[in-house]
Amino acid sequence: MKEEAYVERQTAHQESINLGNEALAIVNESVAGDLHRLHYHLMPPANWMNDPNGLVYYKGEYHLFYQHYPYSPKWGPMHWGHAKSKDLVHWEHLPIALAPSEWYDKGTLDGHGCWSGSAVDDNGVLTLIYTGHVDDNDIKETQCIARSEDGIHFEKYAGNPVIADSPEKNCFGFRDPKVWKYEDQWYMVVGSGKDGNGKIHLYRSADLKSWTYLGIAAESDGTMGDMWECPDLFPMGGHHALILSPMNVQERNMYLTGEMNYETGKFDYRYKDKLDYGYDFYAAQTLLDGQNRRILMAWMDMWGSKSITEAPSRGWLGAMTIPRELVPGEHGKLFMRPVQEHKLLRNEHYALGSHTIESDQMRITGFRSTSYELEARIEFAAEVKEFGIKLRCSDDGKEETVVTYKVEDRMLQMKRDYEGTRDQHISVAPLECTDGSMKLHIFVDTSSVELFANEGERVITNRVYPSGGSDGLRIFADGGPVKFELEAWTLKNIWVQGEA
Ligand code: FRU
Repeated sequence: MKEEAYVERQTAHQESINLGNEALAIVNESVAGDLHRLHYHLMPPANWMNDPNGLVYYKGEYHLFYQHYPYSPKWGPMHWGHAKSKDLVHWEHLPIALAPSEWYDKGTLDGHGCWSGSAVDDNGVLTLIYTGHVDDNDIKETQCIARSEDGIHFEKYAGNPVIADSPEKNCFGFRDPKVWKYEDQWYMVVGSGKDGNGKIHLYRSADLKSWTYLGIAAESDGTMGDMWECPDLFPMGGHHALILSPMNVQERNMYLTGEMNYETGKFDYRYKDKLDYGYDFYAAQTLLDGQNRRILMAWMDMWGSKSITEAPSRGWLGAMTIPRELVPGEHGKLFMRPVQEHKLLRNEHYALGSHTIESDQMRITGFRSTSYELEARIEFAAEVKEFGIKLRCSDDGKEETVVTYKVEDRMLQMKRDYEGTRDQHISVAPLECTDGSMKLHIFVDTSSVELFANEGERVITNRVYPSGGSDGLRIFADGGPVKFELEAWTLKNIWVQGEA
């Protein structure tokens, strides 16, 4: 039905996209000078970003869409921002892909729009599957699709919504569809909740337009939140993994590993853990790339944090983590590591040498940076109480982000509790280091720290907001000798033309 009404609707969509792009163009120069604008992370050109959406490897390039409000650095009627990359580290911003324009994704109140979802390559047609959200009287969430032949301009399907109603009455949310192909059928999980338990609904389709409901694939045992946002279910190391962003529970990110049975439509999990023990990690999503790697990115912020609610207006808000590869470990465990391509951003190399210290702290001289990568190989004697690394230190000692390993408790922690860092917080992750050694791989940027311990066995991600002069690095130990071998690289700024 390429009739008039259809063409008119596409034009209305394109017009609202154009308005968003114009609004961004007005402010995107002015954000560049912000001290906390990141150097090698994906951020919106200006204004607001939340969840990664539609992560997909399409025609040899990585595409990432994201929840976006182009008119203000605050959450509002959701659009889909769009960026792509050839190598996962250099990103190019593209025009807005989706804007609210239809009865199923545009309302009169702020809480409407094209909410989170995923993308697939449907025989060369890049297809987005998203939640249309309208909450004028009652909240209405439906699943919709939009298609593109060129990977840039998207047409909403005339038959939207493709799933018009949730399979259960009185549920808490019905959103964030994640679609994948298994054998020759498409499958979709949609996040939901009912009676205090988060859950995922499973659907199947031959053409992405007509969907059959298969039932509840998995649900909370009563301890995993009352709504499962942004589910992602995928094969991993001969089994399956399910990633979730649960609501109204302390653990705001989670993965379950187990077996997916396509006959019964059930996912049975045997192992459960957090993906990231930091505070600023939410709505993680994955893609499978041309080398069969499972790559994950997440929103590097958190709902309800002061960084969001009390941030000074600086023309932008929200960022993505660096891309990470998911690797299966033993007994259902997952490891998360920075992708190899990240080495492309290495600039100046510093061999910071080998230092043994005891009940002491030491400033690493000759190295100052606010955007760098650090590798530390650490050996500690049995009597050591704790040791660690202080990042983004100010000379007066007032600002620092402290990574500590508490030997007796076998706990790794990251502390950002100085004034000005907005959300004072200590992130804690259990970590066994039975042979008295540990490897830390740390990515520091102008307003973030991502810590990978023991080849990605534990990960802690946090935003920090120190002053620009807080660029020092220290090591410390308490209770016995600790040997640190350190190596660092400053990292190129991907947003400065000609630098990276
Ligand atoms: C998760 C989330 C999703 C929703 C989107 C709205 O952060 O709440 O469930 O689709 O953000 O922006």
